[in-house]
Amino acid sequence: AIDIKKLRDLTGLVTLDPGYKNSGSCTSEITFLDGELGILRYRGYGIEDLAENANFLEVSYLLIFGEKPTAEVLEKFENDIRKYTLVNEEMKSILDGFPKTAHPMGILAAMTSALTSFNPKSVDVENEKDMYCAVCKTMGKFLVIATWTFRKNMGYPLNYYDNTKGYVENFMRLMFEIPTEPYKVNKTFIEALDKLFILHADHEQNCSTSTVRMVGSSHAGLFASISAGVSALWGPLHGGANQAVLEMLEEIHNNGGDTEKYLAKAKDKEDPFRLMGFGHRVYKNFDPRAKIIKKAANEVLATLGVEDPILDIARKLEAAALEDEYFKSRNLYPNVDFYSGIIYRALGIPTDMFTVMFAIGRLPGWIAQWKEMRENKEPIGRPRQIYTGATLREF
Ligand code: ACO
Repeated sequence: AIDIKKLRDLTGLVTLDPGYKNSGSCTSEITFLDGELGILRYRGYGIEDLAENANFLEVSYLLIFGEKPTAEVLEKFENDIRKYTLVNEEMKSILDGFPKTAHPMGILAAMTSALTSFNPKSVDVENEKDMYCAVCKTMGKFLVIATWTFRKNMGYPLNYYDNTKGYVENFMRLMFEIPTEPYKVNKTFIEALDKLFILHADHEQNCSTSTVRMVGSSHAGLFASISAGVSALWGPLHGGANQAVLEMLEEIHNNGGDTEKYLAKAKDKEDPFRLMGFGHRVYKNFDPRAKIIKKAANEVLATLGVEDPILDIARKLEAAALEDEYFKSRNLYPNVDFYSGIIYRALGIPTDMFTVMFAIGRLPGWIAQWKEMRENKEPIGRPRQIYTGATLREF
């Protein structure tokens, strides 16, 4: 018979920290974050500096490999990613199998997972060359698949990567170019997107990144781990918040623009409604990314000459919440998602693609964290629990 008492003694001390609010799961050299001071740095470089002076692929390289690439290294990285942008044609039959109403994040998770079956060697990353190859493959194929989720829902023919164009420009082409209408590059769009991707690129041990590390810790391959990260990101308390923010702003707009009413709902503890795009697990002062995005949103709309009533609602809501005792006392400030949706909307990206946009931006962070976890030879993730169920009983 099992001696429960003995077993209990053997388990030793277990700390309980639901949501891991105060528990570190690893050491990391990738991203520094100070939630009190509102500081975010990738590999020591301030987010404001990177958003202003770097492009997305440079930042991706920096995150994944630890150092800012020289011009030659960056060119090679970009070329190597290009080599892997072809997605196996048989993957199209998987895409065909999804209903037209399927959410793009569900398709993206499944298609990313399927990449493992079509590229079985990518699981093997024991040496530097194989690791580099897996990184470039993921950066290339994920972007293409992400845009296919949109084209499927639109009923458009699938597009292929154009090796004469840059990564972010390709994203817009892959999304929007149709045979009868060549895509015209809009510099403002590309610059805004580049910035948005940089701001989303990493955020230390958030829910999706921790998921990627956890799944990868069993030595599951990069595609399988990233697929799990996509699923985690999809939730409305995480990446899904950007879609939820816009839906909330549209709802307020459609109901007469009464921001005060929604503010009151958010404060009512009997009402499950939360002000989407407000609050953050770590930033208890302000989210430095929100500041940059707010400025970018204003610039994009001014350049395009767009007057968006949704932006007016967002401004009104933000101003009211910042003055409100409930929000002030709980340190609830606009987070990165509060303004990103407004830019996406101005770029013509449909609401249900917003979280996919986040995933494209977060991809280098996921890869960097997965790579670090493997290179540090971290043990398999396996938390403990405090059992609170029934004691032994007879069946
Ligand atoms: N609206 C209203 N009240 C809120 C909100 C909100 N958006 N966020 C937190 N609160 C309140 C809670 O009700 C709680 O109040 P209480 O102390 O009276 O019980 C208090 O503030 C603390 O909230 P917690 O849920 O304990 O904070 P936690 O750190 O666990 O959650 C989270 C952070 C999930 C981001 C939360 O603020 C939230 O749900 N925000 C809305 C969703 C959102 O925007 N998510 C995106 C996060 S950023 C990202 O993933 C990129």
